[in-house]
Amino acid sequence: MLGNFSYKNATKLYFGEDSLKYLNKELPKYGNVVQLIYGGGSIKKNGIYDEVMKILKDNGKTVVEDSGVMPNPTVEKLYEGVKIARENNVDFLLAVGGGSCCDYAKAVSVSVNCDDDPWEKYYIRFEEPDCEIIPVGCVLTMAGTGSEMNAGSVITNHKAKLKIGHVFGEEVMPKFSVLNPKYTMSLPKRQMIAGVYDIFNHICEQYFSGTDDNVSDYLAEALMKSVIRNSLVAAENPEDYEARSNIMWAATWALNTLISRGKTTDWMVHMLGQAVGAYTDATHGMTLAAVSLPYYRYIMPYGIEKFARFAREVWGISAEGKTDEQLASEGLVAMENWMKKLGLTLNITELGATPDMIDGIVEATIILDGGYKVLNKSEVKEILTKSL
Ligand code: NZQ
Ligand code: ZN
Repeated sequence: MLGNFSYKNATKLYFGEDSLKYLNKELPKYGNVVQLIYGGGSIKKNGIYDEVMKILKDNGKTVVEDSGVMPNPTVEKLYEGVKIARENNVDFLLAVGGGSCCDYAKAVSVSVNCDDDPWEKYYIRFEEPDCEIIPVGCVLTMAGTGSEMNAGSVITNHKAKLKIGHVFGEEVMPKFSVLNPKYTMSLPKRQMIAGVYDIFNHICEQYFSGTDDNVSDYLAEALMKSVIRNSLVAAENPEDYEARSNIMWAATWALNTLISRGKTTDWMVHMLGQAVGAYTDATHGMTLAAVSLPYYRYIMPYGIEKFARFAREVWGISAEGKTDEQLASEGLVAMENWMKKLGLTLNITELGATPDMIDGIVEATIILDGGYKVLNKSEVKEILTKSL
């Protein structure tokens, strides 16, 4: 039975090849000083920086640059961004990049007018913002996280060896996001497929839970089928606009809160992946890929009906003459074959994890209780050891 819920999505999207022009429509709504947030320079190489700068100038904005947002943005970078915003009385934060830039912009947005240490307040105590929030807009250059239309923000603290996400309320969602699939075409293939697996796993995290008949699960299956099909096309031909645009749109729907309405959700692959990320600083999607199969094979017996349904509905495997166990196992084999075909990393050793890190990674893994099996620490250790 569907649980009780409310639903609102506060982000306006502009999608398509000419979507950047809508910045002209959005920018006048906000104040004069814009903090332009971007990463390590990909937007300068592919020309997006020049296009965005021109529109900012045409709109008479004073631009304060905040570059060097790294993949898996750090708490030190967050402090730097807050300082830039305060010193320049910034009115608006425009993130141009992937999930790291969008997440970072949200973290800055809730911290500028807040006296408390943002790491302690939002990522340790999980408090909600009680200060004025600086509005955020995104120009997305990588499909994966869904950050363009959600209120999630993940920050890494290397000293504490923790990578933690806070899902804020709708007031922290980007006011708008520009999604131009063409912008994602300059991504290196490894980043593209890491993004694809991130999308796929976001759907899995919301699918592998509950035993009721829930419309969200049907939506999830459709999204998964689209991601599988289009990822194979894009891996073969990265310039295929149809595939890249479908991937980008699926990424947004995979994690814009719709498919989790009215049901419990798992998120343990992300908890394991984030703990691996805290130790290795590896690419987010790859950390998920590397722990997924050992995790799903471990919990499969506890959610056998859903895993059998996954095999049947998502992978098109015939159920005839098979037990649920056989069918469910075949579904995970099909998923493994797809992951191999894409070239995803299937163990944490390749990401830099070593056996002596396992106890620390176990400690850093937050255990959630929404999935088919609430793990204990020794089960977390077993899964991580199998992922080596
Ligand atoms: O920094 P630049 O030079 O821009 O290069 C980036 C970066 O090296 C590059 N890139 C992005 N767009 C490009 C491009 N290179 C060439 N052409 C382009 N068009 O790709 C690299 C990775 O970018 P990043 O933003 O780090 O990737 P992603 O979008 O996967 O974001 C990862 C972060 O988001 C968090 C992750 O934990 C991680 O910190 N997540 C956020 C979520 C949310 N808000 O809901 C949920 C996710 O599960 C995830 O945890
Ligand atoms: Zn993710």
